Amino acid sequence: MCGIFAYLNYLTPKSRLEVLDLLVTGLKRLEYRGYDSTGVAIDSPDSKNIVMVKRMGKVKVLEDAIQEHFTGGEYSEPVATHIGIAHTRWATHGEPCERNSHPQRSDEGNGFVVVHNGIITNYNDVKTFLRKRGYEFESETDTEVFAKLVHHLWKTHPTYSFRELVEQAILQLEGAFAVAVKSKHFPGECVAARRSSPLLVGIKTKTRLATDHIPILYGKDDKKQTSDQDADSGKPQVLPRSDSTSEFMPLEEKEVEYFFASDASAVIEHTNRVIYLEDDDVAAVRDGTLSIHRLKKSLDDPHAREITTLKMEIQQIMKGNYDYFMQKEIFEQPDSVVNTMRGRVRFDGNAIVLGGIKDYIPEIKRCRRLMLIGCGTSYHSAVATRQLLEELTELPVMVELASDFLDRNTPIFRDDVCFFISQSGETADTLMALRYCKQRGALIMGITNTVGSSICRESHCGVHINAGPEIGVASTKAYTSQFISLVMFALVMSEDRLSLQQRRLEILQALSNLADQIRKVLKLDSKVQELAKDLYQHKSLLIMGRGYNFATCLEGALKVKELTYMHSEGIMAGELKHGPLALVDDSMPVLMIVLRDPVYVKCMNALQQVTSRKGCPIIICEEGDEETKAFSSRSLEIPRTVDCLQGILTVIPMQLLSYHIAVLRGCDVDCPRNLAKSVTVE
Ligand code: F6R
Repeated sequence: MCGIFAYLNYLTPKSRLEVLDLLVTGLKRLEYRGYDSTGVAIDSPDSKNIVMVKRMGKVKVLEDAIQEHFTGGEYSEPVATHIGIAHTRWATHGEPCERNSHPQRSDEGNGFVVVHNGIITNYNDVKTFLRKRGYEFESETDTEVFAKLVHHLWKTHPTYSFRELVEQAILQLEGAFAVAVKSKHFPGECVAARRSSPLLVGIKTKTRLATDHIPILYGKDDKKQTSDQDADSGKPQVLPRSDSTSEFMPLEEKEVEYFFASDASAVIEHTNRVIYLEDDDVAAVRDGTLSIHRLKKSLDDPHAREITTLKMEIQQIMKGNYDYFMQKEIFEQPDSVVNTMRGRVRFDGNAIVLGGIKDYIPEIKRCRRLMLIGCGTSYHSAVATRQLLEELTELPVMVELASDFLDRNTPIFRDDVCFFISQSGETADTLMALRYCKQRGALIMGITNTVGSSICRESHCGVHINAGPEIGVASTKAYTSQFISLVMFALVMSEDRLSLQQRRLEILQALSNLADQIRKVLKLDSKVQELAKDLYQHKSLLIMGRGYNFATCLEGALKVKELTYMHSEGIMAGELKHGPLALVDDSMPVLMIVLRDPVYVKCMNALQQVTSRKGCPIIICEEGDEETKAFSSRSLEIPRTVDCLQGILTVIPMQLLSYHIAVLRGCDVDCPRNLAKSVTVE
């Protein structure tokens, strides 16, 4: 997904080369989101123009181009105040190429330049409007429309402030987006805004900030009068300024640096003080002062936006000794699962407290049904835990892919409890499904890994999975932590059920051993690497299992597909003879999960169906299960745990396998082609 990074220094001198360095580093931190091209814009040495550099491919290519381009000594001279904007683009409108990369500009003179995430859905109408007024378009992007519309407004409303121009442009646009805008006509100023696409502002000052909140403003700038032309054009009227904000101080610092970014990983090395912008917020910096404005006034708007202190450490987002973030994240799982349970599970007293939902438990216990909604890997964590949730809550549990759920206009009732599972907390389909259920009066519970994300903020209650930042595009540790969060929820719901106490104890006992067992599974790494050598030149891999391990098959196949670009399918073993068995012969790679759980006999049956068609499956079985192992020359033995947690141990060999196949095939492990970490478009 695209990434925005902008940097503004006010009375904190920096050379343009330093600014470029900051911008490139910011983009590197956003690389994990997935992208195909990059670009930056800074002021020219005389500060009268804007210079842009854009490149196809990786940030490294942009960095090399910057080194070639900005060679003059004037770029090393410090400037007191400057604003630079930068972008990683993931193509949605127009092929990936320099022309379509951001920043996009308003005119040949680079009057206004824009970086943009998301999609402007009515861009064709606006394009037609602008073409009639003489504008010519040089890219195929929707973004260019934004830059040119701001320019048009500037020409027709010469008294508007920069912030007002951007606001008026946004009011004409439809879709989901975040933008940061720079202009040579408004030097030293930056305006950024969001509508359904994440954006935050980082604030760095030498001394402690005088305020923890920034007031929200409505309406026109004091210093400028809008012209009569406002009322003419049928544009939405600018709202009058609210009086109710006076208790909060505006942020007027003498020396200050501001960072605008799509997520916190790009700013954390500079500052841990951030404001998460909400939909229809416009943040403007002018004369070093940050102000936040609302495009639309609503009764439940707070008076101010809070400045949040991030707890994330820079080391948390670095690769350490690993070759790839994904590899690091797979190996972090013994710790991340413990972090998910930390402070929540008391193994001595067999008690579980989930602080983010405890006040809602009585209401949840009275509900009609539980609905678990997510996309991709997050959806699989719901599939993995559904059976246990049904058993321990004794409620009907529906598991839904967010996109399909929305397509069906699924009926939702006031007494439904809807879970929205999302690592990023920003996935557009999941967020839309959340809003759909919220409008219909359901109780909304977020299961996310990203504090301050949209899903987090818009939920009534929730559980942070606390897996730590996940940078690799392919989700690994978030899956196991989502899994555990849902198991913990099931345990909380069954606390007072006498008949379920034995089962609860068994699960709690297994949870306490989980980290050690994951460590043991990770020791299979070199064996998995050997298996990867057998598989990496094949075209396909079938992964079969059933019961508690069906979700591992789906998740394993997704990992193989996204990382290795091989075809892979997760097959419910019970369905084999209804079609997929036709695929099996002596050359088709098959992996089967056969554990000593309630469906063992059925899995053995499937195994025999495969071997009698000359299939040579790799088997994942329990440690020391010689009988099952005897069916194949290739097997992976994993420690025994309680049936409902086996999926955590069986998914890890699948993560390792897809990782090793991807390395052997020369694929980009952390940023698979065509994919993005955070999918903020529908
Ligand atoms: C697969 C993967 C994706 C995400 C999906 C949902 O490895 O990462 O399938 O799981 O895009 O993303 P979140 O969990 O951020 O909502």
